[in-house]
Amino acid sequence: MTRSPTLLAVAAALLATVSAAAEPPPLKSLKPGGLRLGVALSRAQSDGRDEAGLAIAARHFDSITAENLLKWEAVHPEPDRYDFGPADRYVELGRSHGMFVVGHVLLWHQQTPAWVFAGEGGKKLDRETLLARLRSHITTVVGRYRGRIGGWDVVNEALEEDGTLRRTPWLEAIGEDYVAKAFEFAHQADPAAELHYNDYNLWKPAKRDAAVRLVQGLKAKGLRVDGIGEQAHWGVDDPPLEAIDAALAAIRASGTNALITELDMDVLPRDPDQWGADLAKKARIRAATNVYPDGLPPAVQEQLARRYADVFTLFLKHDVGRVTFWGVTDATSWLDDFPIPGRVNYPLLWDRDGREKPAFAAVAEALRKHAGR
Ligand code: XIL
Repeated sequence: MTRSPTLLAVAAALLATVSAAAEPPPLKSLKPGGLRLGVALSRAQSDGRDEAGLAIAARHFDSITAENLLKWEAVHPEPDRYDFGPADRYVELGRSHGMFVVGHVLLWHQQTPAWVFAGEGGKKLDRETLLARLRSHITTVVGRYRGRIGGWDVVNEALEEDGTLRRTPWLEAIGEDYVAKAFEFAHQADPAAELHYNDYNLWKPAKRDAAVRLVQGLKAKGLRVDGIGEQAHWGVDDPPLEAIDAALAAIRASGTNALITELDMDVLPRDPDQWGADLAKKARIRAATNVYPDGLPPAVQEQLARRYADVFTLFLKHDVGRVTFWGVTDATSWLDDFPIPGRVNYPLLWDRDGREKPAFAAVAEALRKHAGR
């Protein structure tokens, strides 16, 4: 009689070991305290329809970003109509899991309805009209989630590759201070929220230096800016690690927090014409580059894993404040349809069936190594 509890205990311990071996520890349990680990959720996930995707997000991450539903076209489709339902559910979901909730994005030139950039009564769009729209949009959206959305991507993609300000309706109608105005309105609406500038290709020195100058200029005006976010939609061997290293070092040296806000790795061959191609060209590029329709070859799987380990080592070296993956599994990645629709891509840590890929183990290992475990 005295032996059965011991046997039971041994059996329980064995079972625990077996199930622990089957299910790796949450990524967030391996990270340093100062790093937030995030993931972008689709609406299907934040609405609770993609339960499997949501379960992965809840287990492994402590921050979420809304992939689309806080963009202007989604949340404020018409001048007098806001659609807050999906965003409310997203914010509540994050809070119920104790996650840091990110708001993406307040000002962008894409996914913004045409009415925002249309002049009154058929006239040319003028500064005061657009500024008033911007102020009311930011005040309403940030104000609604005051104290609940912890950080905002305030301005997205304001820079050209050469470091000049991108020629968008924002710049043309308002002038260069539109960036400062957006930060000012956001801070007024929620003084406690972290505010970020977000862009891509910041590993390119001219663009990175321009982002640093832009943010230093904002801070010099007394505005709050907490971080510079590099989107990090990267390839398996491009950009070079040295360029990523140098960019993170430069951002940190400027005294601003560096964030990785939209991480994924395109494993398909990149055609230099893929970005602006017309439909016929896109079809040709799809035929030539959709090279793994039936699964990722083990060698590429390993290459992807090494790449993730390498970039994570750099993120940890430079103390980045947050790393957010742009999607949960390969099945729902935007890269299956962008920039070429209808391909099978493999950019994330979970495969199409929600199983951890070797890249998952590689990231876990990089985190463990950093922690000295
Ligand atoms: C993408 C989404 O992932 C897609 O679902 C949507 O169709 C287009 O936008 N940079 C950004 C993100 O800042 O908002 C974009 O997200 C990807 C590029």
